[in-house]
Amino acid sequence: MKMIKQQMFAIACAIGLALPMASAHAEAGKHARNLAASCAACHGTNGHSVGGTPLLAGLDKGLFVSAMKDFKSGARPATVMHQHAKGYTDQEFEMLADFFAAQKR
Ligand code: HEC
Repeated sequence: MKMIKQQMFAIACAIGLALPMASAHAEAGKHARNLAASCAACHGTNGHSVGGTPLLAGLDKGLFVSAMKDFKSGARPATVMHQHAKGYTDQEFEMLADFFAAQKR
C-alpha cells in the first residue's frame, strides 16, 4: 500500500511539472487577456476604444511599450495612465503590447 502511494505521488509530481511547461504559452496569452481586461473600462473591449480614449487595438508594439514605460516613469504627461502603468512590470507591458498589436483596428 505504501509503495503505491509513493508511486502515485511521483506520477502526480511528474504531471504537475509537465503541464505548466506544455501550457506556458497558452497561459501567457490568457494572462495577457486578463491584464487587458482591466484596460477595457476606458480603452474598450480588446482596445477598441469608444469616446475620447486612445485606441489601443493595432497599436505598434514599440510605441505601446515606450508609452507605458513613459507613463510609469512619469516622463509622459497623463491624467490617469500614470496610475495604471505603475501596476505592471516591463514583461507585462510586452505581453499587453503583443496582445493589443494583434487586435484589428
Ligand atoms: C480610467 C481610464 C483608463 C484605464 C483603466 C486605462 N487607460 Fe490607458 N489611457 C487613458 C487615457 C485618458 C489616456 C490618455 C492619456 C492620459 O490622459 O492619461 C490613455 C492612454 C493610453 C496609452 C497611450 C496611447 C497612445 O496612442 O498614445 C496607452 C498605451 C494606454 N493608455 C494603455 C493602457 C493599458 C495597457 C491599460 C490597462 C493596463 C490602460 N491604458 C487603462 C485612460 C485609461
